[in-house]
Amino acid sequence: MDDTSCVAFLQWALPRLHLSWRGFRRVRRQVCRRIDRRIAALQLHSLASYAAYLEQKQEEWAVLDRLCRITISRFYRDRDVFDYLGKVVLPALVHSSLVGEKIIRVWSAGCASGEEPYTVAILWHYSLRPSLPCPRLEITATDIDPVLIDRAREACYPASSLRDLPPPLTVQAFERKNGLHCLRATVRNYVRFALMDIREQVPEEAVHLLFCRNLAFTYFDAPLRQHICRTFRDKIALGGALIIGKHETIPPEITGFAPWEGRLPIYRKI
Ligand SMILES: C[S@@+](CC[C@H](N)C(=O)[O-])C[C@H]1O[C@@H](n2cnc3c(N)ncnc32)[C@H](O)[C@@H]1O
Repeated sequence: MDDTSCVAFLQWALPRLHLSWRGFRRVRRQVCRRIDRRIAALQLHSLASYAAYLEQKQEEWAVLDRLCRITISRFYRDRDVFDYLGKVVLPALVHSSLVGEKIIRVWSAGCASGEEPYTVAILWHYSLRPSLPCPRLEITATDIDPVLIDRAREACYPASSLRDLPPPLTVQAFERKNGLHCLRATVRNYVRFALMDIREQVPEEAVHLLFCRNLAFTYFDAPLRQHICRTFRDKIALGGALIIGKHETIPPEITGFAPWEGRLPIYRKI
């Protein structure tokens, strides 16, 4: 399949899934390869015949939706964001009255194989907990992909996933097993994983920190981003924070958030 026809196909199909072509432009080759394999598996011969198949079989849209998931992640992704969380945001939450109940609740929405929520747990356990008056930290981490959730529960990673994590934290948090880096149980125990599609479901309790990075605000279309962002606003306790990806922005129509620090994609609910 050539790039031009795949681009034309994606520009036709993505809006029907409430996904954004702009978000997929950079990663399209990966998605095009998967579509190519799907076309072969269905014994079809072209994108045009796959488009016709989609028009006939409503249930194939769910398959295409799955083929469009981008699952790249790593520990301590966007170092300045996690540095700032550790130095400013988490200590501020601990000291503020909003954790009167003595639990800081975190939700990582679109957590991939656990790299993001476990980074928060590592930061908390090794860098903050020893020096802060101690509320409990509870992290709920959700993803739509059951394979990723299973991997997250196993919590063993190749060295490449850890390349941004400060080396002292790597040494403290992981042990080597069969050539992989496996997270110690003390850190794993902070995180509860669940299968969840953020277009349909949210965790029950209000949260103080909500991570949604490199998912809704890159790959979803504008109306869906707005809907998700309003849902997030309702889920975050007053004074809590929304953390999005470094190259993402909150939809301009959404009120109720103020930048925590101008250069970083961290917003306080006001
Ligand atoms: C690019 S990864 C981002 C991982 C992590 N947040 C980060 O920034 O490193 C996007 C994740 O979102 C998940 N995802 C895609 N659509 C989803 C949906 N509708 N609901 C929940 N998770 C979804 C994918 O399975 C994938 O693990």
